[in-house]
Parts: sequence; C-alpha cells; structure tokens
Amino acid sequence: MQQIKEYLKQHEQRFINELIELLKIPSVSADPAFSQDVFNTAEAVKTALEQAGCEAVEICDTEGYPIIYAEKIVDPSLPTVLVYGHYDVQPPDPIDLWDSPPFEPVIQTTELHPKGAIFARGACDDKGQMYMHVKAVEFMIKTGQLPCNVKFMIEGEEEVGSKSLASFVDQHREKLANDIILISDTGMIANDVPSITTGLRGLSYVEVEVTGPNRDLHSGLYGGAVANPINILAKMISSLHDEHNHITIPGFYDKVEDLSEVERAEMAKAPFDVNDYQKALDIESIYGEKGYTTNERNSIRPTLDVNGIWGGYTGEGAKTVIASKAYAKISMRLVPHQDWEEITALFKTHFESIAPKGVRVKVTPHHGGQGYVTPIDTIGYQAASKAYETTFGKKPIPQRSGGSIPIVALFEEVLKSKTILMGFGLDSDAIHSPNEHFGVWNYLKGIETIPYFYQYFAEMNA
Ligand code: BES
Ligand code: MN
Ligand code: MN
Repeated sequence: MQQIKEYLKQHEQRFINELIELLKIPSVSADPAFSQDVFNTAEAVKTALEQAGCEAVEICDTEGYPIIYAEKIVDPSLPTVLVYGHYDVQPPDPIDLWDSPPFEPVIQTTELHPKGAIFARGACDDKGQMYMHVKAVEFMIKTGQLPCNVKFMIEGEEEVGSKSLASFVDQHREKLANDIILISDTGMIANDVPSITTGLRGLSYVEVEVTGPNRDLHSGLYGGAVANPINILAKMISSLHDEHNHITIPGFYDKVEDLSEVERAEMAKAPFDVNDYQKALDIESIYGEKGYTTNERNSIRPTLDVNGIWGGYTGEGAKTVIASKAYAKISMRLVPHQDWEEITALFKTHFESIAPKGVRVKVTPHHGGQGYVTPIDTIGYQAASKAYETTFGKKPIPQRSGGSIPIVALFEEVLKSKTILMGFGLDSDAIHSPNEHFGVWNYLKGIETIPYFYQYFAEMNA
C-alpha cells in the first residue's frame, strides 16, 4: 500500500475535481422538485464506479430513488467488504445563509481546515465521504492491490428514511453477502485526534397537530375564552422535560442501558473543551440533562427535541388572531435497547393524554430506526484502528456518536454482519446546515486510510 501517497499526489487534483462535479448536482431527496437531479446523480455514481474499475455496476430501480450496486470480486474465497454510502443530500435551506451557492462548490480555508475545505451541500454528508471509497478502490484496482472482494451499495434516500433500501436488502441477501460493512458517513474528533465511531443513536420522528376552534378567530373577541392551540402546544411541549431536563414520558427510560463507571471514565478521556464548544456555537452556557457530561448527553443519552413549530400568523407586521391549529415536528434520539416503535407508541399515548379539554391532538409518526453499537474486540474494528494508526500516526479513540443511520441496525439484522464506521468529517463541518463543507485534507486522508483497512482486514482474516 506504500504507493497510496504517490498515487494521491499524482491524482489529487482530479479527485477533487471529480467530487466538485458530483456536488454540482442538487440531489435533494426530500423535495420532489429535485427528482430528476437525484436520478442524474445515480447515473453519475454508476459511471464513477465503472471508471474506478468495478464490475457488475448496476442501477437498481426501486419505488423511490435507485440504489447503485457494484462489485469487484478478486477471489470468492477471500473476505468481502460491503461499502455503503448515500448520494442524496439534505435540502439546502435556508439558502440566504450560505456564503456561496450550495450547489456551486468552492474551496475556502477555515480555522480548522487551513488546507482548504470544499463548501457545498453534501460535501461531507455524504457525497464527499462516499466518494473517498470510490477513489480508494480505484487506487487498489488500478495498482492491482485489492486484497479482498468489495461490493458497493450506494442509496439515494438516506436523508428521508432509506425506505427502498430496507426492502432491497431484504430481497438481495445473497448478492449482498459480506464479512464486514464499511461506512464513511460520520465524523471524528479532530484532525489531530482521530476517532472511530462505535455507536449511532436510534430515532423516532413524529409530527403533532393540535386543533382548537373550527376556524381562526379574532384574538380580542375570543381570546381568553377558548383554548388557543398554539399556547396549548407550547405548554404540552414544555411539559415533556422536567426541571432536570429529564424526559417525562412514562416508560421512556425503561430500556435505557446505564453505562458502568468504568465505561463513563473511558469516555471522559476523549478531549473536550467546554469553552471552545461554547465559543464555536456562540452560547454562554451548555445545557442538558442533569448528571451527565456534554459528550454523554449527545451520545449515550436519549433526547427529545422540537425540530420545527408553526401555526397562526407569521407574516409581516401584526395580525390579531387565534389560530385554529398548531403543529410541531419532534425528534427523539434513542440509545441501544430502546425500540423506536415502542417509544413512538409511548410518545403518542402520553401526548394525547396530556391534551386539555378544548383541543384535539393528532400524533403522526414519520420515520425512525434503531440505534447501533459496534463491538471493538473484532477483526473489523482492529483493522480500522490499525489503518488510522498507520496514516494518522496515532491510535484512534472509539467514540459513540449522537447521529443516526437507521439502516445500520437493519444490516445487522438481515445481513448478519457488523458495521465499521470510518468517518472523516468534523462536527464543525456544518452538515445539514448552511455552509456545509469537507476538508480537502480530510477527503485525501480518507482515501489514504481506506486501503489500509482492506489490507489489514484481509491479513487478519487470513
Ligand atoms: N450522516 C448522517 C448521520 C450522522 C452524521 C451520524 C454525523 C453520525 C455523525 C445521516 O445522513 C443523517 O443525517 N441521518 C439522520 C437520520 C435520517 C433518518 C434522516 C439524522 O441523524 O438526523
Ligand atoms: Mn449521511
Ligand atoms: Mn444527513
């Protein structure tokens, strides 16, 4: 694998240019207006995998957006790595807050990315990280160094719940058979503090609707005499946390696993500076569940957050009105053993039960998924750890993440294989936010590190 550095030097400009071209296609899966672009991105991914030297490259149509499958089978008796990634991206909104247009990638330096970062929607989540795998495999195939078999499965609906992928995986168990699943769709602590993601949180996403009077009313003539759905909704939502920021839904914590003091002490070793954290977010103080550190609050503890709330008059100026309806979108991040469907049901029962007389409440579940924890005493983890050690010169820290990739638990259930999460993004890369970016250094480091994973994984399996 020695030549990877040389290969990178020789091809780095092309690797960057190719990613930039991919980022120009606005593959927003949530918005039907971008449907054609999502399909076009699938074509571009197919072409890229073919050019990298993969075989049996195929666009698999689904009821939603296509899944791209590709493989390079060196020898059926060797182990097989299944690479998963997604080519769809989050909506770019609010567009006004971008410093450059979200689908016109530019390279700009930042404090954490002195060598430059590519600014575009999807740069880090997940086109940039997915494309590192395409380029790493290109290197291994073109230089005849692929030490095991590889399969690719790249989807276009991750940001909207991976609906088509679930049935695809179920229907193609044989084709997708593998020894390990490899994903780069998470982050690491810092460029000089490599880490491997060992856990993902589960998710339950619901929408609530509170209905009061049958029409919007004059807030002078009726105000104070009928239940105002927005007031009520705000009250109901605020009652979902107690004074210790504990969630009040009965049964919510029943299955939450408490980490041992040893595990918590281990977690606390990861570098974290609360002042830097506050400064980066322009907040005076951190906030959260009593009795837990920031790193615990955003990884091993479940949460409930309103993601959006609306109703009534929100236009220019003032309009005196009591709205007939109020709405909110709520996400609950879950930890291993909490079942997302069970939590969704607990939420629904509780939320309906706390509605006062005078309003009606409707709870609509959206998508969800289970959490995941990767064991670190496996060949897969050891191979990844050794790969980081080789290219970063430092042993990576195992760290559970707060984000969710719901399909990972399903991979384990259906394909019976473990997932290794080799993420190269930083929390500050602004995924899902305006000015999303991905460090050029991180992109190239990922391409450099991935081939070593293959090498060590093949060696350790031999
Ligand atoms: N790549 C992210 C998840 C992620 C990011 C995990 C950083 C860990 C670190 C993924 O694309 C994502 O955004 N997932 C969604 C859930 C999905 C069902 C929409 C999420 O976590 O909100
Ligand atoms: Mn992602
Ligand atoms: Mn995402």
